Amino acid sequence: MIFSTSPVGVFDSGIGGLSVLQALRHELPHESFVYLADSGNAPYGDARGDVFVQQRTRAIAHYLREQYAIKALVIACNTATAAAVEMLRAHMPDLPLIGVEPAIKPAALSSQTGHVGVMATRGTVSSARFTKLLAMHGGGRQFHVQACDGLAKAIEQSTEEPEPLSPETTEIRALCARYTSALGHFGHKTGEIDALVLGCTHYVFVREHLRALLGPDIQLIDTGAAVARQTRRVLLQIQALAAEGEGKAQGRMHLMTTGSLAALQSAARRWLELPAQDCSAVVVPEPAVAA
Ligand code: DGL
Repeated sequence: MIFSTSPVGVFDSGIGGLSVLQALRHELPHESFVYLADSGNAPYGDARGDVFVQQRTRAIAHYLREQYAIKALVIACNTATAAAVEMLRAHMPDLPLIGVEPAIKPAALSSQTGHVGVMATRGTVSSARFTKLLAMHGGGRQFHVQACDGLAKAIEQSTEEPEPLSPETTEIRALCARYTSALGHFGHKTGEIDALVLGCTHYVFVREHLRALLGPDIQLIDTGAAVARQTRRVLLQIQALAAEGEGKAQGRMHLMTTGSLAALQSAARRWLELPAQDCSAVVVPEPAVAA
């Protein structure tokens, strides 16, 4: 049974999916959300492998369903979507799922030079789903793809610092510089990259670093707003969109982490202006015992 007053579940390997939660809150102000950051197991995308990510995804979906009776689940993680969305659909056919994929299509449409850069995790870029996505939308375009090992992890860790993502966050700056220069030349002349896909939800939080490196005219494209619109469509389709004034829990946010509570609280305050009491630390059953 699906109730419109039930919360929407959102999860990511860590705090990256908060960038999607920002867009969800904006698009769906009457919904309540429960967010789970699997920071105790992040990053997913550097070396975890598909089996591990599938086990975590399944365990988390199960947990959010059991504990919060979520009416839909947003997988706010490109890596987990690539590795696990099909498995989860097969395992929980009655749970409406919304996945996140690198914004290849909008980037291909908006690039003038025909050269598009893509930054994503190793897990995402080596997935069959990603290869298919490029093949579907890549006609006449050249994609320059970079697996950004270490970047999501550095962003996770930066939230534990007093000034997250400040210019002093040297590792993040160094990684952004290394990976953007590995992609090629950015600009608007023939052969130059004029659009960059942020293919990991964590990278949205280093947009300013990328902007500083690439200049003001390069398009930086993420999927937060599109995913939020898709979530609205799905909720409408299943007749579970919360109406204004309906239910007491309206617009409520509850954020959980399997890692550091202080880091989640810091990220929640900084990016969503949420108080510390909206966050808690949880234990999600280990993959081996997950249903
Ligand atoms: N935020 C995730 C993504 O969108 C994954 C980062 C990671 O854990 O490697 O891909």
